[in-house]
Amino acid sequence: MKVAILSGGGDAPGINAVIRAVVRKAIQDYGYETVGVRDGWRGLVDGDFVPLDLMKTSGMLPRGGSILGTSRTNPFKQEGDPERILENARKMGIEAVVVIGGDDTLGVAHKMNELGLPCVGVPKTIDNDLACTDYTFGFQTAVSIACEALDRLHTTAESHHRVIILEVMGRYTGWIALEAGLAGGADAILIPEKPFKVDEVCEYIRRRQKRGRNFSLVVAAEGAKPLGGEEIVYSSGTDEFGNVRLGGVGYFLGREIEKKMNIETRVVVLGHLQRGGSPIAFDRVLASRYGVAAIDLVNEAKFGLMVALQGNKIVSVPLKDVVGKRKKVDLGLYEIAKVFFG
Ligand code: F6P
Repeated sequence: MKVAILSGGGDAPGINAVIRAVVRKAIQDYGYETVGVRDGWRGLVDGDFVPLDLMKTSGMLPRGGSILGTSRTNPFKQEGDPERILENARKMGIEAVVVIGGDDTLGVAHKMNELGLPCVGVPKTIDNDLACTDYTFGFQTAVSIACEALDRLHTTAESHHRVIILEVMGRYTGWIALEAGLAGGADAILIPEKPFKVDEVCEYIRRRQKRGRNFSLVVAAEGAKPLGGEEIVYSSGTDEFGNVRLGGVGYFLGREIEKKMNIETRVVVLGHLQRGGSPIAFDRVLASRYGVAAIDLVNEAKFGLMVALQGNKIVSVPLKDVVGKRKKVDLGLYEIAKVFFG
């Protein structure tokens, strides 16, 4: 059997670890042939493949990015592309595709599976916003990087008696902001699930000042929005899946705080630093478990499923139950983080 592997959407630390695991298990235990698809669904539309074997995937466990490249190509935006994918898979003799992606990429996997391309999904995104899984791989690495950034910002904020706002990614959920903020001792955490009031943030800063702490750290998820307002976008254009580019809430908040309070404020946008580079051990282990579980599903001819982590067990869930949903943050965890605000 020939199995193809593709990664689509924003990259996340651990993609190469998944590819390595799929290839290793597929060749060693099942005697399959493996082939990589370049740049997500774009590669299947264009028939752009690269052979994958044990040698090619050796040494990839700690490597960031995706050796296959990635893209946000949506074949359902272009007439004839889904048929092109089916035709290219047939020509290449591909009998199964392991699709590594977030909601958009796996949404395509679900539709292509229905059209007759046997697909198995692997949950990837630093945002951790996919339904039916406790964790997507890449998320914990992003949290660690944001936490380290907070530790570093702490000392400079303290020395200069400033407010520093760290803007992190996460799209329409606040997972990275919440977990990194809790781990990094943030004095306020703004998440999309809880629209914020600038006055409330200022109140936390004042409360600290009254305790003699004349500096504060605020973490703002890029999708956080003021109560009654909208998310702040960097540019209004959208990608092929209709996603806008979020960004700017940190600067908005910084300006508001300086207007309302007599305290110097700085803004740091962490950006793609939280997506690039090597995965932490947790994500290497999770990615390896996901990769092995995905090829096991292929071997059992169980398609239209996504591997998932539930209570530290690897399970499989129907792609149709995953796509189009958005896993919001655990508000119980937010209440815990709130104990440390101000
Ligand atoms: O979905 C992952 C993510 O990193 C989001 O957190 C962020 O909004 C977006 O991708 C950024 O995408 P791009 O790669 O287009 O800058």
